Amino acid sequence: MEDSPDRQNPTILLVGASRGLGLAMADAFVQRGWHVVGTVRPGARTGLHDLADACPGSVTIETLDITEPAQITALRDTLSGRAFDMLFVNAGTANPDQAETIAQTPTEAFVRVMLTNALGVMRTVEGLQDLVRPAGLIGVMSSGQGSIADNEKGGHEVYRGSKAALNQYMRSYAARRAGDGRPLVLMAPGWIRTDLGGPEARYSVEETIPELVDTLIAQQGVPGLRFIDRHGGTVPW
Ligand SMILES: NC(=O)c1ccc[n+]([C@@H]2O[C@H](COP(=O)([O-])OP(=O)(O)OC[C@H]3O[C@@H](n4cnc5c(N)ncnc54)[C@H](OP(=O)(O)O)[C@@H]3O)[C@@H](O)[C@H]2O)c1
Repeated sequence: MEDSPDRQNPTILLVGASRGLGLAMADAFVQRGWHVVGTVRPGARTGLHDLADACPGSVTIETLDITEPAQITALRDTLSGRAFDMLFVNAGTANPDQAETIAQTPTEAFVRVMLTNALGVMRTVEGLQDLVRPAGLIGVMSSGQGSIADNEKGGHEVYRGSKAALNQYMRSYAARRAGDGRPLVLMAPGWIRTDLGGPEARYSVEETIPELVDTLIAQQGVPGLRFIDRHGGTVPW
């Protein structure tokens, strides 16, 4: 695999780019001259299709549901031979009833949130990692709510647990690859107004995602795993 990054036209494989933070990230990467291969779940037209139409040649759309292992394998085969500068798995979900305790969480909701946010994300990282050039960055969307050290209020319990699990699994992934020099990022974006974040969230997409993308780009070439916020500050485990 070619390992020299294409400084003229770097490329990101961005998983979960149909709407919300992922769509805003796709837009911000395009604005910075990157080519975006963005994934959406199979089915309806999305905001990423509108972005692709508005920015001809800058966006390629692929399909992936991260809870379907066969779709991860199919995407890897479709993109075989590509050498991405960055892989970022943004896809994630939450339980609509954020007030329930973990013991009150319906089994179906627990399985869906954990399968998507922890197992699905890690299967996607493991399944697509070979498409990233050896020194390229692999990042995933975590959350400040995944910080065990910062959890002093409780709430959002199944979601918190899923992001804490994701953090733990990324630490295992990094430990298995200690010394390979690849930058690995767990990103805590802040509380942002999206379908998932809700209308009461503190920040807009416009005031957060451009900085988040600049922070990710700045992490290129810095080996090892970091749990950071959108400003690049360290988040306690
Ligand atoms: N907004 C916040 O305040 C906040 C804070 C911390 C962390 N985060 C994290 O940021 C990420 C994006 O959140 P958001 O606020 O943009 O949420 P959102 O508006 O609900 O968007 C979620 C995205 O994930 C995709 N997705 C969900 N399940 C998927 C699956 N099984 N396979 C593939 N894609 C899937 C969705 O695709 P569809 O359109 O097909 O559903 C959509 O693109 C999530 O990981 C979330 O946990 C958000």
